[in-house]
Amino acid sequence: MDLNLKINEKNHAEIGGADTIEIAKKYGTPLYVIDEERIRSNYKRVFNAFTKYYSDFKIFYACKANTNLAIMRILEESGSCIDAVSPGEVYTSLKAGFSPERVLFTGNNVTNDELKYVNETGVRINIDSVSQLERLAKIVDPEGYKISFRVNPMVGAGHHEHCITGGEMSKFGIKENEAVEVYQIAKNMGFDPVGIHTHIGSGILDPEPFKLATNVLMDIAGKVASEADIDFEFIDFGGGLGIPYEPKENLLAIDEFAKEITGIFKTKLDKYGMGKPSMYIEPGRYIVGDASYLLTTVNTVKNSYRKFIGVDCGFNTLLRPAMYESYHHIVVANKANDELVEKVDIAGNVCESGDLFGRDRPLPEVEEGDVLAIMNTGAYSFSMASQYNSRPRPCEVLINNGECEIIREKETYEDLFNNQIVPERLKKN
Ligand code: LLP
Repeated sequence: MDLNLKINEKNHAEIGGADTIEIAKKYGTPLYVIDEERIRSNYKRVFNAFTKYYSDFKIFYACKANTNLAIMRILEESGSCIDAVSPGEVYTSLKAGFSPERVLFTGNNVTNDELKYVNETGVRINIDSVSQLERLAKIVDPEGYKISFRVNPMVGAGHHEHCITGGEMSKFGIKENEAVEVYQIAKNMGFDPVGIHTHIGSGILDPEPFKLATNVLMDIAGKVASEADIDFEFIDFGGGLGIPYEPKENLLAIDEFAKEITGIFKTKLDKYGMGKPSMYIEPGRYIVGDASYLLTTVNTVKNSYRKFIGVDCGFNTLLRPAMYESYHHIVVANKANDELVEKVDIAGNVCESGDLFGRDRPLPEVEEGDVLAIMNTGAYSFSMASQYNSRPRPCEVLINNGECEIIREKETYEDLFNNQIVPERLKKN
């Protein structure tokens, strides 16, 4: 199995050299535990794979996957740039120490106030629609202002329908067959369009759709370069690199992948005489996804019409299974190597029937008090958590060389009322 699971001599699941059961005892559950070293090595693996074949290559970490400031600091130190999709993510990136040149803002349905803010920060803007272009032209002086466009290449892929972002059903980007015209319009306004971008979807383990999208985007870029006379400084292929969530899935063969993608890139640059622009990609999940476990304690074993293992968190803490029916591998952290003896349903504590982390999961005999490690929760997990059912969000702990540090305190009941105002007339006197 290619999942990032380590088990120590006590038969406990381990992360970053630390014993999950010790961590759960020390901090309580539910709890996100994140392995710093794994993030650093994931980053390096992608960076080394691509730079081996094309040296002017940059990673723009898609920080929507995990915006914790400590994680952002690790990536800043590693040399990453940032894909930011909202003014809040731009703000977070700058707070984490990224200089504006290292941040690319790719918004969707962006307001004028958001455009004003993003422009003032000095980060680069990747434009999603003609409307956004026209409104930006009223906010900034377009003369020589560098921009890029997100293009819908009519290729899409992803682990779930909600995560496919190319093709005719997608709200993202400008139409591929209008690209030349849109770049021309931008130039006529005085803008300096220097980049082209696409992102076809998320959670893709099959290299084929990427290869297709790379071919298509390069053909579009070639056409734009010659017909609208654009000299591209960068070409950005977006994110989407998948990780195995199920034991039967395999790791993306990153070296082979990088070789193929850069191969297409270089061939097309030559074909269209586009010089040597920078190559960007925007992985989120690949960098942080397999670097974390969500630890949760079993509080109820219920033999109903099915056998339910009830735990102390729910889809407010980890939404992916309820939202996309995503599989997250689950191990009993204090019986990590025990024989799997029965199939059970693992249910959260939210008052909805869809609040399940897995059905029919083969597990060892589970008892109340056992700790479960829900794997691959580094991406789109805390960042999608909520306070639904008035449950405060949990703590996050970073492991570095076996040592734990809290990087986010757990919320308190009082935090549930942040920014709420009860009008004077409704107050109980
Ligand atoms: N670039 C852009 C413009 C994006 O919209 C995204 C993700 C990425 C890069 C990074 O994609 P990644 O490498 O992480 O696949 N909540 C969903 C995933 C939504 C992804 C949205 N955009 C999930 O939990 O699977």
